[in-house]
Amino acid sequence: MLNIALDGPSGSGKSTVAGILAERLDILHLDTGAMYRACALAALKKNIKCLDEEGVSAFIGDIDLQIRYENGEQKTILDGEDVSQKIRNNEVSMMSSDISSLPSVRRKMVEMQRIVAKNNPCILDGRDIGTVVLPDANYKFYITATPEVRAERRRLDLLDKGQKVDFDILLEEINRRDYNDSHRKISPLKQAEDAILIDTSDLSVEEVVDKILAIINK
Ligand code: DC
Repeated sequence: MLNIALDGPSGSGKSTVAGILAERLDILHLDTGAMYRACALAALKKNIKCLDEEGVSAFIGDIDLQIRYENGEQKTILDGEDVSQKIRNNEVSMMSSDISSLPSVRRKMVEMQRIVAKNNPCILDGRDIGTVVLPDANYKFYITATPEVRAERRRLDLLDKGQKVDFDILLEEINRRDYNDSHRKISPLKQAEDAILIDTSDLSVEEVVDKILAIINK
């Protein structure tokens, strides 16, 4: 079963790149960040703080979270509702970084992710795919870019969706999330030793995709 791991920090462009790669290779794309975002939304709905280990542990085992595909596009379904858009706002971004530091949450999400990878040729993008979720993946990539480039990409992304957010605020959030994600005790954001590093600061999405395809097709 073809399994590709694609990790990297917030705003590195990994979801976009993984989506295109999945289409070109005709395999499934699982955006694992969307799953942690859905967990944060579930906590928000229940009025439970994302760092409340006890409160979150009480519901996470039975979370009604499903990933579906419509025309190749991932849909994140929470309690039967399509929350694919709702999980994309800034508040949920910060909360997902918090909730993803809880062991009970990671245990549950990793279990779900491994089931998908076992049953489908796929590319998973996230923070710990190459290190924890799929240590035996056929290919591992770690893509990154400077915080400034990532903040500007996020700003343009949000603007595209009609949300005007200040560059400095986004840069601060990117730095805070980087710190959170790479300093948490379990499964911190880290390049796997056998992952290929690609700095995308000066590359277009197409150039990153081509680089990765060249390696896979070698
Ligand atoms: O990739 P993203 O920004 O949608 O991810 C949202 C949060 O989820 C991010 O702050 C870190 C966390 N995450 C994680 O801990 N492990 C993953 N495999 C994917 C995301």
